[in-house]
Amino acid sequence: MWREAIQQVLISETELHRRIEALGRVITADYQGSELVFVAVLKGALMFSADLARAVDLPLTIDYIALSSYGDRHVSSGHVHIPKDLSESIANKHVLIIEDIVDTGISLQYLWHHLMSHHPADLNVCVLLDKRARRQVDLPIKYIGFDVPDAFVVGYGLDYQQRYRNLPFIGILHPEVFEKDPG
Ligand code: IMP
Repeated sequence: MWREAIQQVLISETELHRRIEALGRVITADYQGSELVFVAVLKGALMFSADLARAVDLPLTIDYIALSSYGDRHVSSGHVHIPKDLSESIANKHVLIIEDIVDTGISLQYLWHHLMSHHPADLNVCVLLDKRARRQVDLPIKYIGFDVPDAFVVGYGLDYQQRYRNLPFIGILHPEVFEKDPG
């Protein structure tokens, strides 16, 4: 069974739902009177952005951007590129980056500078998971769903070699999976 690849459920479906509802309420209050643009990062933030958008009671639009790091995903190489860019202008808009997880912070820093070059009215960050122990670059993150330990997590959009995105919870991947299939 492929679910046996999960060593431990870190954040259950119910906990995810509750926290995202709470984040939605805070974002709704903070952006009262404004129209918001979600820039969600593919593919990891797909589930999170869809659920968070429904928890925000404001007019909003959603755009998707894809980032990829060259080399091995476990060790961020520091070289980021954008295989899929924005499809709408964000100039003078209130923009919120929606990310699945911040690890070293290198991808987010790159995305931050890229979006700032398009002159939004303001730019903030909302991440579901913060893996603080591995941070190399610090950026102000306005909204954080959960802090997570320094372990490789999958589910609810996060993958290992494109698998496990459809798990409804966040789990720690069994180290044996890496050993068998190091990628
Ligand atoms: P950073 O540039 O090191 O902050 O890496 C951020 C990206 O690495 C995330 O958007 C994820 O795609 C990926 N990533 C980092 N840690 C994990 C993890 O534990 N599970 C799945 N993907 C991860």
